[in-house]
Amino acid sequence: MFSTEMSLFLSYILVISTFGQASYDHYRLPQTLQPQHYNLRILTHLEDEDRLSFSGEVEIELRVLQPTSNITLHAGSRLQMTSNRTNLYYMDENGNKKKIGVRAVERNSKYDYYILVLGKVLEPRQNYALYIQFFASFGGGMSGYYASSYKDQNSNKTRYLSVTQFEPAYARTAFPCFDEPAFKATFNITLGHPTKYVALSNMPISKKIPMSGRKNWLWTIFEQTLPMSSYLVCYSVNDFAGLTSRNDFSVEFTTWARASAIAQCKYAAEIGPRLLDHYERMFEIDYPLPKVDQLAVPDFSAGAMENWGLITYREAALFYAPEASSEVDKQRVANIIAHELAHQWFGNLVTMKWWNDLWLNEGFATYVATLGMQKLCSKWHAYAEESLENMMIVLNSDAYYSTRAVSQTVSRASQFAEQFDPITYRKGAVIIRMMHMFIGDTTFRNGLNCYLKRHAYSNADQSDLWRSLSDAAHKFGSFPKYLDVQTVMDTWTLQAGYPLITVHRDYSRNTISINQRRFLMHGLDKTMEKDNFFSKECWFVPISYASRSMANFTATEPRVWLQCDSQGKDIPLEVQSPLGAKEDQWLILNVQLTAPFRVNYDTINWKLIIKTLQGGDFRRIHTMNRAQLIDDALALSWNGYLCYKLTLDLLRYIKQEHAYMPWRAALDHLAAIYRIMKQSPDFAVFQPQHFMNDLLSPIYDYLGGMETEANGRCRHHHIAHKTLINQWACRLALYDCVECAVQYYHRWFISNDPDLANPVPQNLRSVVYCAALRQGDESDWNFLWQRYSNATVASERRLILQALGCTQIEFVIRRYLKIIFDENSSIRKQDISLAFGAIARSDIGFPLAKDYFMNNFSLLTKSFESNYRELAALLLQITRHISSPHDYGALKMFIDCHKKLQKLATRTVRHAVELAQVNLHWRQKQQAQFTRCLKDHY
Ligand code: BES
Ligand code: ZN
Repeated sequence: MFSTEMSLFLSYILVISTFGQASYDHYRLPQTLQPQHYNLRILTHLEDEDRLSFSGEVEIELRVLQPTSNITLHAGSRLQMTSNRTNLYYMDENGNKKKIGVRAVERNSKYDYYILVLGKVLEPRQNYALYIQFFASFGGGMSGYYASSYKDQNSNKTRYLSVTQFEPAYARTAFPCFDEPAFKATFNITLGHPTKYVALSNMPISKKIPMSGRKNWLWTIFEQTLPMSSYLVCYSVNDFAGLTSRNDFSVEFTTWARASAIAQCKYAAEIGPRLLDHYERMFEIDYPLPKVDQLAVPDFSAGAMENWGLITYREAALFYAPEASSEVDKQRVANIIAHELAHQWFGNLVTMKWWNDLWLNEGFATYVATLGMQKLCSKWHAYAEESLENMMIVLNSDAYYSTRAVSQTVSRASQFAEQFDPITYRKGAVIIRMMHMFIGDTTFRNGLNCYLKRHAYSNADQSDLWRSLSDAAHKFGSFPKYLDVQTVMDTWTLQAGYPLITVHRDYSRNTISINQRRFLMHGLDKTMEKDNFFSKECWFVPISYASRSMANFTATEPRVWLQCDSQGKDIPLEVQSPLGAKEDQWLILNVQLTAPFRVNYDTINWKLIIKTLQGGDFRRIHTMNRAQLIDDALALSWNGYLCYKLTLDLLRYIKQEHAYMPWRAALDHLAAIYRIMKQSPDFAVFQPQHFMNDLLSPIYDYLGGMETEANGRCRHHHIAHKTLINQWACRLALYDCVECAVQYYHRWFISNDPDLANPVPQNLRSVVYCAALRQGDESDWNFLWQRYSNATVASERRLILQALGCTQIEFVIRRYLKIIFDENSSIRKQDISLAFGAIARSDIGFPLAKDYFMNNFSLLTKSFESNYRELAALLLQITRHISSPHDYGALKMFIDCHKKLQKLATRTVRHAVELAQVNLHWRQKQQAQFTRCLKDHY
C-alpha cells in the first residue's frame, strides 16, 4: 500500500515538473470537455449533532471537444476525496466501459480546481465517465450543502435539516463538478437518509428504495432533470410538513416548512401557482418541469434562491401570518415569489454565459416581477411604485466614483458575489423598463419570446438579447431606422453612471437646447474629477416631455433621441417649439421617469414648475414626475448645481401632497441631511418648531397620525406612507406621535399574555416599538427582548430585532451589541446586519456601533467565518453616518490596517469610504448655504 502511494506520489511530482500542470493558472475551466450528465448520490448524516456530515459519489459523463491529457473541474477545498476512488472510464457507443489510468491528481486552492493528469490523450467526440467519491462535514456557513436547525416547539428539541445554496459558485463545495453557468448538463440525483425524513430535489421523486445494510434508511431517487447549470441544482433532507396548493394547473405546487409554521405558508401556496400561470401566458412558454416546491429554510443567507423546481426562501420571505404580519410584509412575500418564479425562465431556462451578465438574470427577474404583481394584485400599484423605487435608488447610488457598469468583467469567485448589488438588480430593471417603453409592449413581448426560445436550455449574453429585440423591432417597425438596440443599450450597460441632462430654453425663439454630462454626487468638485477623468461619457437618451399646455403624462415614448457621435462624444440637441410650450408655461422632461437621468432646467423654467406645484392644480404633473422634481432638485442642490433657496421653495409645495412617492423622495434626501446636521450646532433650524414641523404637520393629520380607526387612513396605499410619516414624527417627537406610541406599547406591556395578544396595530408596529424604546427604560427593552425570544412569526422577529436598536441607553446598546455577535446568541447570523444597522442608525448608537466594529474586528471576522463581503456590508451601515473629519480619519486608518477586507470586498469598501467623503464634502461646502436658506424661510 505504502509503496503504491509512494510511487503515485513520485509520478505526481514528475508530472508536475514535466507537464507544468501547476501553471494552469486561469480562472475559467478549459473548454476541452463538456459534461453531459451527472449521476449524483449523497448520503446525509443529521442524526448526531456533533457529527453532521455528508458523503457521496458522482459519475460525470464527459464529451471531449478538443484533445486533452488532463481533466480539470471544480472541487472546494473542504471536500475530501476518497483516495483511490477517483476513476476514469472510456465509454463506447454501446455503453461499455473501459478503465483509463489516472497518473496523478492535483488540487489548486486558488481556483478550487481538481485536476486529473492522465497517461493518455482523450480524443474529440469520444465519451468518458469520471467517477469520484467524496465526503465532508457540514460547516457553520450558509452556502454549499449546509445544515440548518430549528427548535421543535412540542418537544423543545433542536431538529436538523440540510439544504443547498449553490449560487454563485458553491456547488463545487458540495460535489466535484464543472461549476460554471455555461456547462449545462442533466442530473440524476439520489439522496440517502433516515426514513423519518423527507428528501426533496429539483425534480419529482421517481422511487424510494430501502437501503441495504442500514435499517430505517432509504434512497430517494429523483427523475432526471433537463439540461441545467450547476448553480441551480438543489436538494434537501428535512422533517418538514408540506402544503399542496389547490391545483387548477398542470404543475404540482407544494410549499414546505417546519410543521409548526406551515399555517403561515397559506398565502405563499396560494399566490405561487397564480404567478406561475401568469408567466406561462406572458412568455408564451410553458413551465417545463412537472412541479414546483417552495421551501422555507430557517438559516438562509439571501432572501430566496430560484433553484429550478425547488425554490428556497428564508422564513421571513415566505411566511405571512394574517394576524401578526403587516400588509407590507404580504406584498414583500408576493414580490419575492414573483421574482423567483420569473427566474424559472430568465435564469433557469436561459442562463447568462458568464457572471458579467448576471443582470440578464436579476434585472429581468426584478422587472418582470413588477409586471406580474401588477397583473395579479393591482391594488398595490406595484408596477409604478417599484419602478419608481428602483429608479430613485439607482439615481442615488449610481452617482459615485465607486459605482460600476451593469455588465462588469469578473474573474475570481469572490467577485461574483459582489455582482449581486443594486446595479445588477435595480439598474438592470430600470434599463429593461426603459427599453420596454421605447420599443413598445408588442415588440418587447415578441422579442423576449424569441430570445427565450432561441436560447432555451442554453446560455446567452447581452448581445443575444439585443439581437432578439432588434429583430422584433424591425419586424414591427417600432424603432427609428437610424438607431439600433445594441448601440443604444451598450451605452447603458457598458458604462458606469448616468447623465445629467441640462435644459436651456430660449424663450424668445421658443427652442430648447439639451446637453448631457455624467452626474456625480461630488458635483462640481474639480479635484475629484482630475483623478477620475471622464471626458468621453455619452449615453443615447430617449427624451420624452410634457408641457403645461400639453400635460399628457401617458405619452412615454421618446420624442427625440440625444445621441453620441462615432467617437462616443455627445451631440448637443436643439428642439424647436417643443409641444408649443409658451414662455409662461413649464416644460418637464422624462415623462414617468422612463430613463435613468436627472434634469436641470434654467431658473425660469424651474420657477414656472414651482408656481404650478404650489398652485391648486399641481396634480396636472404626474405623481412620478412630482417625485422626480423633488429628487432632482434636492440632489442638484446637494452638490452645488442648484441653490437651496430654489429647492426649498419647491419642496414647500409638499405640504399639499398626499401621494407617497414624492414624500419618499423628499424624506430620503432630508434623512441624509439630518444625519449630518444632527452632529452640528445648526441642528436647531431643522428642529421641531421650525422646518420639519411645518412640512409634516398637514400630512400627519391627513393620514390620521397614529390612529388606525375609521378616521385614520388605512387603505392599502396609505400604509407605507403612514409608516414613513410616523417614523419621522416620532423620531423628531412631533405632535402626539410619541405619546400615542407609548400608550400602545404600555397596553401591550401590561397585558396578561403579551405573546398571544398584541394590542399594537400590525401596520404601526415598527414605529411604535422603536418610539417606545427610544424614550423607554431598561425594562421596556427587556420586555421586547423577551417577546423576541418567544415570537414565532419571522417578520415579527425581524421587526423586533430592529426596534431593539432604537434604545438610547448606552449600557443597553453595549449589551445588545454583545448579544448580536455572541456565538451562542439566539439571533441567527442572517439577521445580524439588520440588528447592527438599527443601532448604527440611532444617535447614541452610531458611535458605539462604529467603535464596536473597529475594536472587535477580529472577533467579528470569526463570527462571520471570514465572509468579508458581509463584514463590508456592516461597514457600509456605519459609514453612511460619518461626516466629521475625525470619524473619517478613523475610518481611513481602519481600512488601511485591514488589507484583507480591502482585497476581498474591494468595491464595497471603496463605496463605504466614498459615502463618508461625500458627507464630509457637503458639510464643508453646502451646509452653510442650506442653514442660511432655512433660517430665511423659518
Ligand atoms: N438569485 C438570487 C439569490 C442569490 C443572491 C444568490 C445573492 C446568491 C447571491 C435570488 O433570485 C434573489 O435575487 N433573491 C433576492 C430577493 C429578490 C426579491 C430581490 C434576495 O435574496 O435578496
Ligand atoms: Zn434573483
